[in-house]
Amino acid sequence: MEKMTNQDKQNKMEKVVALLKRRGFIFPSSDIYGGLQAAYDYGPLGVELKNNIKRAWWKFFVQNKLDMVGLDAAIIMHPKVWEASGHVQNFTDPLIDCKKCKKRFRADHLLPANPKSPGYDKEKPFFVADYQCPDCGGDLTEVRQFNLMFQTFMGPVEEAAGKVYLRPETAGGIFVNFKNVVDSMRMRIPFGIGQIGKAFRNEITVENFIFRTREFEQMEVEYFVNPKEWEKYFNDWLELMKTWCKFLGIKEKNLYLKEIEGSDRAFYSQRTIDFEYEYPFGRKELYGLAYRTDYDLKQHQKFSGQNLEYTDPVSKEKFIPHIIEPSLGVDRSFLVVLLEAYTEVTGGRTTTTEATKETEVVLKLPYELAPIKIAILPLAKKEPLLVTAQNIARNLSSIYTVQYDETGSIGRRYRRQDEIGTPYCITIDFATANDQAVTVRDRDTMQQTRVAIGDLENYFKTKFN
Ligand code: GAP
Repeated sequence: MEKMTNQDKQNKMEKVVALLKRRGFIFPSSDIYGGLQAAYDYGPLGVELKNNIKRAWWKFFVQNKLDMVGLDAAIIMHPKVWEASGHVQNFTDPLIDCKKCKKRFRADHLLPANPKSPGYDKEKPFFVADYQCPDCGGDLTEVRQFNLMFQTFMGPVEEAAGKVYLRPETAGGIFVNFKNVVDSMRMRIPFGIGQIGKAFRNEITVENFIFRTREFEQMEVEYFVNPKEWEKYFNDWLELMKTWCKFLGIKEKNLYLKEIEGSDRAFYSQRTIDFEYEYPFGRKELYGLAYRTDYDLKQHQKFSGQNLEYTDPVSKEKFIPHIIEPSLGVDRSFLVVLLEAYTEVTGGRTTTTEATKETEVVLKLPYELAPIKIAILPLAKKEPLLVTAQNIARNLSSIYTVQYDETGSIGRRYRRQDEIGTPYCITIDFATANDQAVTVRDRDTMQQTRVAIGDLENYFKTKFN
C-alpha cells in the first residue's frame, strides 16, 4: 500500500472537515455571526453519531460491568473541590506573547519537541531570548503561568465569595461522590464510577478542528481499588481500552501506546499510558490511562474534613482507596471514528457511467455508530411506491434511525447514503406492489437482496446484531 504524504494527510483532513459541514455533522458555532474560534455545534447527523459513541461507551464500560455504576454530577461544583485537586494552583499552561503581532502561544509548543534538541533543559525549558514569533519573527514576552479554568460567579453579585469554576474534568464530580455511592449503593471495592459530561478548559491554543477545543466532553471512569491490587486492575482497564479502540474501527497501525516516564507524569501518578493516534496533523493524544494512587481521596478528605477511608468488610483492613482512571474524550473519539471510516473509491464503485467519472466517498462506520441505520428510497415519485415506502419508514423508525429520501436518481441517493455511512438502503420499486418485497442494498458489499416487507424487521435484527 502506498504511504500517505503530508499533503495527502492534510487533504484528507480538509475533505473530512468539509464533508462534516456539508452533510450536517458539525457546524462552526454561531455560524451566522461568523463563528466563534474553536467552538463547534454537532448537527443532526453529528448528534446521532456522538450519542451512539456515548451510548456504546456507557454500555461497554458501565452497564455491562457488574462492578460499575454511573453518575451525572453538576458542572459547577464547590470551589474547594478545585483547591483540593490542585487545579486552582497548578492547572496552568505556560503562556507567551509576541510583542509585535500580539499572538499568544503555549511556550512549551514553541520549543522543539525533542528533549535532545540544543538548549533543552527540563528544569529550565524556556529560553525565550532564543526564540522568535513563528508568525512574524517578533520578540517574545517572558513566560507566565495561565490558569486554564473558566471562572464565573454564583448569584447576582460578582464578588470573590461567589467565585466558581466550570469543571475542567468530569473526574472531580466522581471523587467527591465516592462516599455517597458506597453508602447508597453498598458498593464494595474494587468498583468504579463512570460519567459522561462536558468539561471546560480555557486552552491557550486551540487546534485541529475538534481535537483541542475549550468546551468538550469526557467519558471517565474512576476505579477504586485496594493499593495491593492496582497493577492487576490497571492491566484490565488497559485491555478494555484497547478493545474499545478496536470497536471504534481504529487500525492497529494508527494507535500507539506511550508509557509516560517518571518526571513527565503528573506528580501523583505512579503509572500513565497515553493512547496516541496518528492524526493527519501528527501523532497526538487520544485517551489516557492513569494510576492516580490515593492522591484524590486523600486531598478531598483533607479539604472536606470528611472521613473517606474504606473498611474491607471481610479483612476489616482500613485504607484510602487508590484510583485507576481511564479517561476518554468524546470529541476525539468522534474525530478518529470519522478519520478511520472515511474511504475514497476511485474508478467507479457503482457501474453507472455517471458514477465512474467521480470519486465516491464511503464512510465505513461501525454499524452501531452509524447516524442513520437504514435509508428508505422509493425508486420513483409515483404511487403506490410512495405510500408503501412511507409506511416502511414509519414502521422501522420505531426501532432504527431511518432517513426517507425520494429525490434524485437512485444512484445519487445511494451515494448520498454511502457518504454518511448508512449501512442499508431499501428500494421500493414497481415490482413491490406484486411481490410485497423490496431490495435491500448493503453499503460495503453493494450486494442487493430481495426481502419480503413482512420480514424486514427480522432481517435487520440479524444484520444489526
Ligand atoms: N481526569 C483526567 C483528565 O482529564 P486529560 O488527559 O487532561 O485527563 C482526558 O483529559 C481526555 O480528555 C484526553 O485524553 C482527551 O481525549 C480529552 N481532552 C482533554 N482536553 C481536551 C480538549 N481541550 N479538547 C478536546 N478533548 C480534550
